Amino acid sequence: MKPIKCLVTAGPTREYFDPVRYISNPSSGKMGWNIANAAKQKGWDVTLILGPSQLPDIDGATTVRVVSAADMLSACEKYFPHTDILIMSAAVSDVRPKVYSGQKIKKDKIDFNPQLEPTPDILKTLSLKKKSQILVGFAAETHDVMHYAEEKMKSKNLDAIVANTVGSEGSGFAADENKIDLILRSGEIVDFHKASKSRLAASLIDFISAKFFGGRRPQDRQ
Ligand code: CTP
Repeated sequence: MKPIKCLVTAGPTREYFDPVRYISNPSSGKMGWNIANAAKQKGWDVTLILGPSQLPDIDGATTVRVVSAADMLSACEKYFPHTDILIMSAAVSDVRPKVYSGQKIKKDKIDFNPQLEPTPDILKTLSLKKKSQILVGFAAETHDVMHYAEEKMKSKNLDAIVANTVGSEGSGFAADENKIDLILRSGEIVDFHKASKSRLAASLIDFISAKFFGGRRPQDRQ
C-alpha cells in the first residue's frame, strides 16, 4: 500500500535586488524541517521544499532547495497535484523588488526608495487548485495570534492553521523551542505546550495523522 504523500515547505525566501543583496526574514527553517522529518519517521512519503538554510537534506525524503517565493511556488505546483497533504510552514517573503540588477549595484547608485511588489501568495494560489488535498498553513504573528490565524485559515481556504507567536525570545523564528496552537476549520483548538521543535513536530504529525487520515493511509478511507 502506498504511504501518505506529504509536501512540506520550510525556511525563508530571499528576494534579491542584485547578486549580493536581498529582502528576507530571520526564519531558520527548523520548524518545517522537523515537521518533514517527523512525517518521514511516520512512514510518509515526504517532499520538503526548503528555502535558503543551513539545514541538511532529510534521509529518505526528497529535498528541493529554492531561493525566492517564485521558485517555491513553481516547486510546490509541481508536487501539489500528487500530494495528500500540504503543510506550508515556510516564512515566505511578502515583498520583492520590482527591478533586479544582474550586476552588483555600486553603493552610490543604490535606489534608497526602491519599488517593491508583492510576491505570489503560494497557499492562496494552491488552494484554488485544491482537489482532495488537506491544506495546513502557519500564521506567524507578534500579536493577536489566534485572531489573525483564524482569518488566514478562512481567507486561504485551509483545513487547519498553526498559530505561532514570533518575535519573542525563545519562541518562533530561529529558536530551538516553539509554542503553537492548531486551529481546525471546525473551530477545535489544540494547544501544544512549549517544547523543542522536534517534539512539537512529532506531536503535530501524530495529531494530523489521527484527525485527517484516521491514523490510516488515505486509500483506506471509505
Ligand atoms: N504564505 C504563502 N505565500 C506568501 C506569504 C505567505 O504561501 N507570499 C503562507 C505562509 O507559508 C503561511 C501562511 O501563508 O502558511 C500565512 O503566512 P503569514 O506570513 O503568517 O501571513 P501573510 O499571508 O504573509 O500575511 P501577513 O504578512 O499580513 O500576516
